[in-house]
Amino acid sequence: PLRVAVLISGRGSNLQALIAARRSGELAIELILVASNRPAAEGLRHAEAAGIPTLVLDPAAWPDRAAYDAELFARIAAAAPDLIVLAGFMRVLDAAALAPWAGRIINIHPSLLPKYPGLHTHKRALAAGDALHGASVHFVTAELDGGPVLARTEIAIEPGDTPDSLAQRLLLREHVLLCQCVQWLAQRRAELRADGVYFDGRLLAQSLQV
Ligand code: GAR
Repeated sequence: PLRVAVLISGRGSNLQALIAARRSGELAIELILVASNRPAAEGLRHAEAAGIPTLVLDPAAWPDRAAYDAELFARIAAAAPDLIVLAGFMRVLDAAALAPWAGRIINIHPSLLPKYPGLHTHKRALAAGDALHGASVHFVTAELDGGPVLARTEIAIEPGDTPDSLAQRLLLREHVLLCQCVQWLAQRRAELRADGVYFDGRLLAQSLQV
Protein backbone atom coordinates (compact mmCIF):
# COMPACT_ATOMS: atom_id res chain seq x y z
CA PRO A 1 0.00 0.00 0.00
CA LEU A 2 0.91 3.64 -0.50
CA ARG A 3 3.05 4.91 2.36
CA VAL A 4 1.60 8.23 3.52
CA ALA A 5 3.05 10.88 5.84
CA VAL A 6 0.67 13.59 7.09
CA LEU A 7 1.68 17.08 8.24
CA ILE A 8 -0.61 18.95 10.60
CA SER A 9 -0.62 22.06 12.74
CA GLY A 10 -3.83 21.76 14.75
CA ARG A 11 -7.11 19.92 15.17
CA GLY A 12 -6.38 17.15 12.70
CA SER A 13 -9.92 16.34 11.57
CA ASN A 14 -8.70 15.68 8.02
CA LEU A 15 -6.09 13.34 9.48
CA GLN A 16 -8.89 11.66 11.45
CA ALA A 17 -10.83 11.15 8.23
CA LEU A 18 -7.81 9.41 6.67
CA ILE A 19 -7.37 7.24 9.76
CA ALA A 20 -11.06 6.28 9.72
CA ALA A 21 -11.06 5.50 5.99
CA ARG A 22 -7.99 3.34 6.36
CA ARG A 23 -9.50 1.54 9.34
CA SER A 24 -12.77 0.80 7.55
CA GLY A 25 -10.84 -0.58 4.60
CA GLU A 26 -12.05 2.14 2.20
CA LEU A 27 -8.53 3.45 1.79
CA ALA A 28 -5.64 1.09 1.11
CA ILE A 29 -2.81 3.16 2.56
CA GLU A 30 -0.30 2.89 5.32
CA LEU A 31 -0.07 5.93 7.60
CA ILE A 32 3.61 5.89 8.47
CA LEU A 33 4.14 9.27 10.13
CA VAL A 34 2.27 12.29 11.45
CA ALA A 35 4.43 15.38 11.82
CA SER A 36 3.52 18.70 13.44
CA ASN A 37 5.18 22.05 13.85
CA ARG A 38 3.08 22.62 16.98
CA PRO A 39 3.66 20.44 20.04
CA ALA A 40 0.09 21.21 21.19
CA ALA A 41 -1.60 20.12 17.94
CA GLU A 42 -4.65 18.06 18.92
CA GLY A 43 -4.20 15.92 15.85
CA LEU A 44 -1.11 14.37 17.41
CA ARG A 45 -3.41 12.66 19.92
CA HIS A 46 -5.42 11.09 17.08
CA ALA A 47 -2.19 9.76 15.59
CA GLU A 48 -1.03 8.34 18.92
CA ALA A 49 -4.41 6.73 19.52
CA ALA A 50 -4.14 5.09 16.09
CA GLY A 51 -0.60 3.89 16.77
CA ILE A 52 0.97 6.09 14.10
CA PRO A 53 4.51 7.37 14.82
CA THR A 54 4.60 11.12 15.45
CA LEU A 55 7.24 13.77 14.98
CA VAL A 56 7.13 17.24 16.52
CA LEU A 57 9.59 19.87 15.36
CA ASP A 58 9.08 23.30 16.88
CA PRO A 59 10.37 25.97 14.45
CA ALA A 60 11.50 28.09 17.41
CA ALA A 61 14.53 25.79 17.70
CA TRP A 62 15.81 26.56 14.16
CA PRO A 63 17.45 29.76 12.91
CA ASP A 64 15.32 30.17 9.77
CA ARG A 65 12.73 28.60 7.49
CA ALA A 66 15.26 26.97 5.14
CA ALA A 67 17.06 25.22 8.02
CA TYR A 68 13.79 24.12 9.64
CA ASP A 69 12.28 22.80 6.42
CA ALA A 70 15.51 20.98 5.51
CA GLU A 71 15.43 19.17 8.86
CA LEU A 72 11.69 18.46 8.67
CA PHE A 73 11.91 16.98 5.19
CA ALA A 74 15.06 15.00 6.00
CA ARG A 75 13.19 13.40 8.90
CA ILE A 76 10.16 12.73 6.72
CA ALA A 77 12.37 11.27 3.96
CA ALA A 78 13.88 8.89 6.53
CA ALA A 79 10.40 7.36 6.91
CA ALA A 80 10.32 6.81 3.12
CA PRO A 81 6.77 7.96 2.28
CA ASP A 82 5.34 7.65 -1.24
CA LEU A 83 3.08 10.62 -0.53
CA ILE A 84 3.11 13.60 1.84
CA VAL A 85 -0.28 15.10 2.73
CA LEU A 86 -0.52 18.62 4.15
CA ALA A 87 -3.72 18.48 6.21
CA GLY A 88 -4.07 21.80 7.98
CA PHE A 89 -0.32 22.40 8.00
CA MET A 90 -0.18 26.17 8.45
CA ARG A 91 3.35 26.97 7.31
CA VAL A 92 4.75 28.14 4.02
CA LEU A 93 7.35 25.67 2.75
CA ASP A 94 10.82 26.37 1.43
CA ALA A 95 11.23 25.77 -2.32
CA ALA A 96 14.48 23.81 -1.94
CA ALA A 97 12.95 21.43 0.60
CA LEU A 98 9.91 20.86 -1.63
CA ALA A 99 11.76 20.29 -4.90
CA PRO A 100 12.55 16.57 -4.43
CA TRP A 101 8.89 15.88 -3.61
CA ALA A 102 7.28 17.36 -6.72
CA GLY A 103 4.24 15.26 -7.59
CA ARG A 104 4.40 13.43 -4.26
CA ILE A 105 3.05 16.15 -1.96
CA ILE A 106 -0.53 17.43 -1.83
CA ASN A 107 -2.36 20.05 0.22
CA ILE A 108 -6.00 20.60 1.10
CA HIS A 109 -7.06 24.22 1.01
CA PRO A 110 -10.46 25.64 2.04
CA SER A 111 -11.33 27.59 -1.10
CA LEU A 112 -12.14 26.99 -4.75
CA LEU A 113 -8.60 27.59 -5.99
CA PRO A 114 -7.37 29.66 -7.76
CA LYS A 115 -9.71 31.85 -5.69
CA TYR A 116 -8.49 32.86 -2.23
CA PRO A 117 -5.04 31.40 -1.66
CA GLY A 118 -3.75 32.11 1.85
CA LEU A 119 -5.79 32.72 5.00
CA HIS A 120 -9.39 33.71 5.94
CA THR A 121 -10.91 32.03 2.89
CA HIS A 122 -14.45 31.73 4.32
CA LYS A 123 -14.58 35.39 5.27
CA ARG A 124 -13.26 36.41 1.85
CA ALA A 125 -15.80 34.29 -0.04
CA LEU A 126 -18.62 35.87 2.01
CA ALA A 127 -17.26 39.40 1.57
CA ALA A 128 -17.09 38.87 -2.19
CA GLY A 129 -20.76 37.83 -2.27
CA ASP A 130 -19.92 34.47 -3.83
CA ALA A 131 -22.76 32.00 -4.38
CA LEU A 132 -20.37 29.05 -4.20
CA HIS A 133 -17.56 28.15 -1.87
CA GLY A 134 -15.51 25.01 -1.56
CA ALA A 135 -12.21 23.28 -1.02
CA SER A 136 -9.41 22.12 -3.28
CA VAL A 137 -6.73 19.46 -3.20
CA HIS A 138 -3.66 20.47 -5.16
CA PHE A 139 -0.12 19.33 -5.75
CA VAL A 140 2.24 21.51 -3.74
CA THR A 141 4.72 23.79 -5.46
CA ALA A 142 6.79 26.67 -4.12
CA GLU A 143 3.93 29.06 -4.92
CA LEU A 144 1.59 29.32 -1.90
CA ASP A 145 -1.64 27.38 -2.64
CA GLY A 146 -0.67 27.73 -6.30
CA GLY A 147 0.16 24.21 -7.50
CA PRO A 148 -1.92 22.23 -10.03
CA VAL A 149 -5.37 21.35 -8.66
CA LEU A 150 -6.39 17.70 -8.70
CA ALA A 151 -9.97 18.03 -7.42
CA ARG A 152 -12.40 20.44 -5.81
CA THR A 153 -15.64 20.17 -3.90
CA GLU A 154 -18.31 22.87 -3.92
CA ILE A 155 -20.92 24.01 -1.43
CA ALA A 156 -23.59 26.67 -1.82
CA ILE A 157 -23.33 29.77 0.35
CA GLU A 158 -26.68 30.21 2.13
CA PRO A 159 -28.25 33.42 3.42
CA GLY A 160 -27.15 33.91 7.01
CA ASP A 161 -23.89 32.00 6.59
CA THR A 162 -20.99 33.20 8.72
CA PRO A 163 -17.31 32.31 8.31
CA ASP A 164 -17.81 29.72 11.08
CA SER A 165 -20.93 28.12 9.62
CA LEU A 166 -19.26 27.91 6.22
CA ALA A 167 -16.07 26.45 7.68
CA GLN A 168 -18.06 23.83 9.59
CA ARG A 169 -20.17 22.76 6.63
CA LEU A 170 -17.19 22.70 4.31
CA LEU A 171 -15.06 20.65 6.68
CA LEU A 172 -17.31 17.59 6.26
CA ARG A 173 -16.84 17.84 2.50
CA GLU A 174 -13.10 18.36 2.90
CA HIS A 175 -12.85 14.98 4.59
CA VAL A 176 -14.55 13.27 1.65
CA LEU A 177 -12.47 15.22 -0.89
CA LEU A 178 -9.16 14.44 0.78
CA CYS A 179 -9.88 10.73 1.18
CA GLN A 180 -10.98 10.51 -2.46
CA CYS A 181 -7.82 12.23 -3.71
CA VAL A 182 -5.55 10.04 -1.60
CA GLN A 183 -7.44 7.01 -2.88
CA TRP A 184 -6.86 8.06 -6.51
CA LEU A 185 -3.17 8.53 -5.80
CA ALA A 186 -2.97 5.18 -4.03
CA GLN A 187 -4.62 3.55 -7.04
CA ARG A 188 -2.15 5.41 -9.31
CA ARG A 189 -5.10 6.86 -11.19
CA ALA A 190 -3.93 10.45 -10.62
CA GLU A 191 -0.46 11.66 -11.38
CA LEU A 192 1.38 14.97 -11.82
CA ARG A 193 3.51 15.17 -14.96
CA ALA A 194 5.51 18.04 -16.46
CA ASP A 195 2.52 19.32 -18.45
CA GLY A 196 -0.18 18.93 -15.85
CA VAL A 197 -2.37 16.56 -13.85
CA TYR A 198 -3.21 13.23 -15.45
CA PHE A 199 -6.16 11.07 -14.51
CA ASP A 200 -6.58 7.56 -15.91
CA GLY A 201 -3.78 8.35 -18.34
CA ARG A 202 -5.36 11.55 -19.70
CA LEU A 203 -4.33 15.15 -19.17
CA LEU A 204 -7.07 16.89 -17.17
CA ALA A 205 -8.45 19.99 -18.88
CA GLN A 206 -9.98 21.02 -15.55
CA SER A 207 -9.85 19.75 -12.01
CA LEU A 208 -12.09 16.87 -10.93
CA GLN A 209 -15.28 17.39 -8.87
CA VAL A 210 -15.93 15.46 -5.68
C1 GAR B 1 -8.91 22.65 7.07
O1 GAR B 1 -10.07 23.41 6.85
C2 GAR B 1 -7.93 22.85 5.94
O2 GAR B 1 -8.54 22.98 4.68
C3 GAR B 1 -7.27 24.14 6.34
O3 GAR B 1 -7.11 24.04 7.73
C4 GAR B 1 -8.14 23.21 8.27
C5 GAR B 1 -7.49 22.12 9.08
O4 GAR B 1 -8.46 21.39 9.78
N1 GAR B 1 -6.02 24.32 5.69
C6 GAR B 1 -5.52 25.52 5.38
O5 GAR B 1 -6.09 26.57 5.64
C7 GAR B 1 -4.18 25.48 4.68
N2 GAR B 1 -3.79 26.79 4.32
P1 GAR B 1 -8.09 20.01 10.47
O6 GAR B 1 -6.83 20.26 11.30
O7 GAR B 1 -9.25 19.70 11.34
O8 GAR B 1 -7.86 18.99 9.39
